[in-house]
Formats: sequence, C-alpha cells, structure tokens
Amino acid sequence: MKKINNNSINIKNLGEEVELYGWASKVRNLGGLVFIDLRDRSGIIQLVINPDNKFYDLASTIKSEYVIKACGKVIERSNKNPNMATGDIEVEVSNLEILNTSIDIPFPIATDITALEETRLKYRYLDIRRDEVKEKLITRSNIIKAFREYLYKNDFIEVETPVLCKSTPEGARDYLVPSRINNGSFYALPQSPQLFKQLLMVGGMEKYFQVAKCFRDEDLRADRQPEFTQVDVEMSFVDQNDVMTICENLVAYVFKQVKNIDIKLPLRRMKYDEAMDSYGSDKPDLRFDMKIHDVTDVFKNTEFTIFKNVIEENGIINCLVVKNKASEYSRKDLDKLVEFVKTYKASGLAYIKYNEEVTGSIVKVLSNEEIDNLKNNLNIENNDLVLIVSGKKNIVKTSLGALRCKLGRDLNLIDNNSYELLWVTDFPSFEWSDEENRFMACHHPFTAPNDEDIDKLLNDKANCYSKAYDIVINGYEAGGGSIRIHNQDVQNKMFEALELTKEEVQEKFGWFTEALKYGTPPHGGFAIGLDRFVMLLTNTENIKDVIAFPKTTSASDLMCECPSIVDNNQLDVLGIKVKGE
Ligand code: AMO
Repeated sequence: MKKINNNSINIKNLGEEVELYGWASKVRNLGGLVFIDLRDRSGIIQLVINPDNKFYDLASTIKSEYVIKACGKVIERSNKNPNMATGDIEVEVSNLEILNTSIDIPFPIATDITALEETRLKYRYLDIRRDEVKEKLITRSNIIKAFREYLYKNDFIEVETPVLCKSTPEGARDYLVPSRINNGSFYALPQSPQLFKQLLMVGGMEKYFQVAKCFRDEDLRADRQPEFTQVDVEMSFVDQNDVMTICENLVAYVFKQVKNIDIKLPLRRMKYDEAMDSYGSDKPDLRFDMKIHDVTDVFKNTEFTIFKNVIEENGIINCLVVKNKASEYSRKDLDKLVEFVKTYKASGLAYIKYNEEVTGSIVKVLSNEEIDNLKNNLNIENNDLVLIVSGKKNIVKTSLGALRCKLGRDLNLIDNNSYELLWVTDFPSFEWSDEENRFMACHHPFTAPNDEDIDKLLNDKANCYSKAYDIVINGYEAGGGSIRIHNQDVQNKMFEALELTKEEVQEKFGWFTEALKYGTPPHGGFAIGLDRFVMLLTNTENIKDVIAFPKTTSASDLMCECPSIVDNNQLDVLGIKVKGE
C-alpha cells in the first residue's frame, strides 16, 4: 500500500529511503540526467536518475501519465525551486517500476489550459488530475466534513430518505422512473427530502440532517444542475429565530473551519419587500452599494408621455445612480445597457448625465424643475450618471436589479475575496402564475404564513407573507427554509388558497396530510445548496467546477454519454413505447 504522500517529504527527511507512487507529470533529460516530476494527490516531487543508474534506460522510456513506483533516497537539490512545497529536495532513484502506461492525453494536466469544456468533461477523469479541479473536490470534502461535525456536535441525527418517491406537484418538473412491477406507474426522484424530513419530525426524531441528493428537471444555469446536493436540516419545537440561528452558526462554523474566515453573527436580516425595492432581487449582492431609488414622485406632474402613461397605469419610475462615471459612458456603451435591460422585459432605459451640462436621452423632454428635483432627491454630484426604467413594478425592479449586478461587475465595484451574508425573510406566501391563472405556493404548500397573516390566506393572498427565509451569500441563494404548518385548520386553508379540492389534496398529498393528524410537533428547517456553497468558497461561478462528474447545460453527461437510448427489451418490460417509433 502507498504510505507516503509526496508533499509530506521535505528537507527534514534528508537521507531517508522513501517508496513513492504516482503519475509521471513531466519527464526531462537534462545533461544526461533523467528528471521525472512524480505527481500524486498531494503534489509533485522530483525524481532523479543518473546515467550510471541501472534503471536509466527504463526511466528514459517513461512518458507523461505513466503510473510508476519509485524507491530512493531523499537528497538536497542543487538548484532549489521555492515555488514547490518539495522544492528543496529530490529523490535519487534506487528502484523503479512502471506499473502502467498511458496513451497520449487529449489536454495537458496543468492549470490555465485552453481545452474546451466539452473535452474536459468527456475526459473528466483526466480533468480531475488537474490541480484546479482536484483542489475544489478536496475543499468540497472538507466542507461536508465541517457541516457534519457541527451538526453531530449539536445533537442532530443523520437519516437517509428514499430516492424512489411519489411524484408531487407544486415545484419543478420531476424526474420519473418507470416501474417494472407496476407497469404504467412511476416513481419520482426527490426534488428534496422535504416531506420525508417533516415525517421524521412526526416520527419524533426532533433534530434531523442529511447530505441529500436532489433531482429537478428544470432549465439549467451556471448555478443549477439537474442533480445536486443539499445539506438538509429539520428541527422540532423551534421557532423561526431558532432555526435561523442554528443555520447561521452552522454556516459560520464551516467558513471558519474551511477558510479560517470569521463571519460576524447574527447575520443581517432583510425583508423580501425591502430586498426587491432596494436591490431588485430576493438575493441581493451586498458586496457593493448602489441601491435602486424610487423617483416616481419626482415625475407625478410630468408632461413626458411615457412617464405620464406609466404613472396613470399605476406603474413606477425607478433609477440607479452611477457615481462619477458619466463621462466614461459613450452613446454606444449606453445603447448596450438599453439592450441589456430589454432582455429583462423593460421597455427601455433612459439616462441623464449630470456634468457641467446636463445631457442624456430624455433631457429635452423633461422640465428643468424635474431635472433639478431628481438631482436634489438623489444627491447627485458632478459626473454622476442616472439610469432610469419605468413600467410595471416587477419588471422595473428585476431589470434594474440585474443592471445593478452588471454594473457592479463591469465597474469592478466588487471585492472578489469578500463575503457578504444576509437573511432574506418574510417571503410572500403566494406568487401569481399567468400560465396557471392562479396563485401558486411561493415556497411549498407546507410553509407557515406569518401569524398575523393567517386570515389573508383566503382573503388577501397578494399581501400574505410567510415564515420563509433564504440565506444569501454574495448574491447567491445559498440556502433556504421555513417554519412548517403543523395546524390542520391552517393547512386546509392553505390548500383552499391554492384552489386544491379535498379530492385533489387526498390524491396528491393524502399520505402526507394523514400523518400530520397524529400529533405533529411544531417544526421547521432549511436546506443549504451544497454545490453553490462550495462554489462560493472556491471562488468559481460555474457549478460544474465543484462537482466530480457534472452534467452540461443540456443535462447530458458527455463522459458516459447519457441520457441514451435503451434497447426495446428494457422498454417492453416497463410497458413503455417511445412516441414516434
Ligand atoms: P430550495 O428549493 O430553496 O428549498 O432548495 C434549497 C437550496 O438548494 C439549492 N438548489 C440548487 N442547487 C443546484 N442546482 C439546482 N437545480 C438547485 N435548486 C436548488 C439552492 C437552494 O437555496 N425543501 C426546501 C428546503 C426547506 O424548506 O427546508 C428546498 O428544497 O442553494
């Protein structure tokens, strides 16, 4: 068995005999000496073979990525390499064995390579040999370890829940698994262990956690995978404050253990409405300032038709102020920003540059009073740029929220080594779905409404807020949870609010609501998106970087080439025929 890691050897081991295993990272023949950079998981160590060594000829045949075993004495290097952990020493080989050869590799095992992502994913096992990927997987492992450590220390019990489940509505699309024994029936892969963890509370487990695989068939983005991992937690006999306190202490513990970063607790808390109003997002990136300002009032008597119409239709006029940058934005740059907000359904973006002369797209159509009022209202200084969007509230907020983040990046306002954490609380219980023409559950139908809003469940859905909370890190939703409904009456009101009939409730959730009748304790919990958390702690914006074998944005695995066609016999036993065959 391999006993020594390359990186554990240093100048203190001079003269010791070592037995090393690994891959030949680089082989060089310099002045008759053969040098092999031997790589193992811990790092690289240099082997040296003299021309009079009986293994010299064998060493000369070694190529990149051959697997070798080398024994030898640790000696001091004549030309030291301060950039390597083992740069003071090398190993003078006394025994050498080639354990396996390798065909030519499709890309070098090095940092900053130019290989296409597709190639790297096809040969992911080679990609994993590269420090960039390897280090992230090691950090991921350290993070999981720290999560477990904290939860075990705090009396939580790890329980596994099923992967073959019942399909439940109200969420993303399910991945379905056909049943062979019950042709025509399907299991669903869990989108999260939500209902099971609540049943564990009914079952009296009190404090549960699980590092759980979740599956969601949704459109993928840079921070979304079809299968991902949650650190899933549930607790009984707690209120919202208890759950949030445990969660933020857990997160702070992991930051400290893995990155030695002190997170200041308690975390800042911001209501959903404030987050949307001021940052145009329910996951505001607070690493930089630049709030959204509501300037509807400035234009309440305006003659400018577009703004006038917006106000008449109960819309809003909001803006961002870019401090001291007006002169840096050309007409072309501003046109690009206009196009950018249009991708978020904004009808346009007006701009005003406050220099000695006030210029911009709407300066001619505004009165001097309006231009001055805007200036005073926003404390405008020389060379400030004001970017304005008007229209329906949600479009104005989300487009300016997205523009704010773009400007933050473009103008280098973000310190990439800093972490800004906060809670976003008091999410609405419902969101309106144009597609379904009804209110849908914002979180899930088991989320408790705020005590003062219980009556609004049926009478004023648009203003009903819930005991739901998200933990936001650097503009990412890193996790979220809620206090659950444990009272039958409230649960029934919630189903009624979602326009579910008794029969539908019975069919869809009957197995679950039945359980709630047997002495359900008050309970609540949360789930941290592990992959996103690892992304944040390893400073990458691509979720694939932190997953050993990720899927592409079209949900395929380029290495094992799946999803793939299966043969007809397999389909026959499942009673399935592919349409169009
Ligand atoms: P939610 O749906 O908010 O809550 O998920 C919790 C966290 O999981 C992460 N996440 C994802 N990560 C990668 N790819 C995805 N497709 C993906 N979807 C979600 C996010 C998110 O914050 N059962 C509830 C939790 C609870 O109420 O206790 C739940 O699943 O970081």
